[in-house]
Amino acid sequence: MAADVLKAKVWRGADQGSFEVYEVPRRASQTVLDVVTYVQRHIDHTLSYRFSCRVGMCGSCAMNVNGIARWTCRTHVSKVLKGRSEIEIAPLSNLPVIKDLATDMTTFFDKWARAKGQFHGSKTRHDDFARVDPASKERVAAADGTECIGCGVCYSVCDVVTWKPDFLGPAALNRAWTLVNDVRDVAVKERLEAVSGDAGCHSCHTQGSCTERCPKHIAPSFSIAGLKVLTASLAVKGDL
Ligand code: FES
Repeated sequence: MAADVLKAKVWRGADQGSFEVYEVPRRASQTVLDVVTYVQRHIDHTLSYRFSCRVGMCGSCAMNVNGIARWTCRTHVSKVLKGRSEIEIAPLSNLPVIKDLATDMTTFFDKWARAKGQFHGSKTRHDDFARVDPASKERVAAADGTECIGCGVCYSVCDVVTWKPDFLGPAALNRAWTLVNDVRDVAVKERLEAVSGDAGCHSCHTQGSCTERCPKHIAPSFSIAGLKVLTASLAVKGDL
């Protein structure tokens, strides 16, 4: 195979399927998403995958690349090839496959709802803007966590989700942590009750795969540890 051609093994099918091999021209600064897009636009129009922003904002393009979950629009082919001429692209793990590289994210986002991931304020449109001090302890604790783009990479690499499919997972718990630290929110008690059950924060084994792989460099392990401490201390006092 010519040096300017890349061999792309791409998953085809649903949970049952197989890899198809495509030859894709190498380009300067080529991303993994560029490879998938080339296959779909020039070789097989029936290939299904998901993307939107192409600039690392929407979180929709995550896939397994050579066995590692990544955001494909921000992953250069040169970074994952490491001297090889072949790349393997598969759907994220821990999620049902709808078709090819598109996974069903329903359970992932339902868990955000189960973790009470919706903001509940007490103000109305007639009130003045609520002000949050950027230097406050709560805002600083939640700062990194608010950068989550919902890509599902952390969920895909979480061994606890694999072993215990009911586990809320790193992203939903990280979302809960950001709201627990939001001084405008008035549903903290309900949220802490929602994340302290058997499927919640205390099931996390702190293996840290979520933190290692998060493309936004968020540390869901930190958020989950915060929830563990808070829920445990309230339980000891009889407040939870
Ligand atoms: S396409 Fe939006 S994050 Fe990759």
